[in-house]
Amino acid sequence: MRRLILAAASLIGLAAGVAALPANAAEETPAPPKRSWSFDGMFGTYDRAALQRGFQVYKEVCAACHSLKYVYYRNLTEIGLSVEQAKAVAASVEVNGGLNDQGEPFTRPGTLADHFKAPYANDKAARAANGGALPPDQSLLVNAREGGADYIFGILTGYQGAPSGFALGEGMSYNKYFPGHQISMSQPISDDRVTYADGTKATVEQMSADVTTFLAWASNPELEQRKRMGIRIVLFLILMTGVTYAVKRKVWASVH
Ligand code: HEC
Repeated sequence: MRRLILAAASLIGLAAGVAALPANAAEETPAPPKRSWSFDGMFGTYDRAALQRGFQVYKEVCAACHSLKYVYYRNLTEIGLSVEQAKAVAASVEVNGGLNDQGEPFTRPGTLADHFKAPYANDKAARAANGGALPPDQSLLVNAREGGADYIFGILTGYQGAPSGFALGEGMSYNKYFPGHQISMSQPISDDRVTYADGTKATVEQMSADVTTFLAWASNPELEQRKRMGIRIVLFLILMTGVTYAVKRKVWASVH
């Protein structure tokens, strides 16, 4: 069921993303370079250390503007946090608790059953705080954008000075890989923006790769399971081919 919802939601996201592109932007924007990811290929899995570092980057940087509404605090155990650690992360935010007995809204600490708390109360508030631009929800972003993980990594590392003659709007930044090159998100990470718990050096490239891995997991949490199942099916088919061939030989052995 969750997979169905995720698939449907990513289709809607994709449609919205395509509709939002200016008609000629696709030709003039270069495709982001292809990188090799731990989760690529038939045997790919998510690098657990990268996932946890990526979560740290999301939490300390991106979460200030981008929601992650399809991920629940309990899902953090899937990236290697203990139940206690996931509970502590949830409890560190105050979520809307509904109405108390007096009919007044109240807040309570988050629990494992809550989804990630959004930084803004609604889209209007998010736009108002970001010069009119909406920071998209990041739960399905990797699936919703052409280029997937390479695109996200490209955006994060694609900031540069605008070429001379390029009319950059006020408050906008030039980004090599954003359609049309004008993005209203200023470069979110710079060297040492976070201090990694595991001591990894926090370069822009490292943080970009880690947070992209984390967002790829958010979009496709079932990827490892799906690949394992695919491998089992292939093994089963090979086995069945052998069995069928053996049966065929036996049946035809007496016919000359
Ligand atoms: C200060 C607020 C802010 C922070 C912090 C921030 N973003 Fe953004 N982000 C935005 C806004 C606003 C947009 C919409 C830009 C636009 O449409 O021009 C955006 C757009 C993006 C896009 C492009 C999405 C698309 O539509 O193709 C990506 C990718 C992205 N953000 C990733 C991140 C990541 C990863 C982080 C954390 C490392 C992060 N952002 C931190 C505000 C922010």
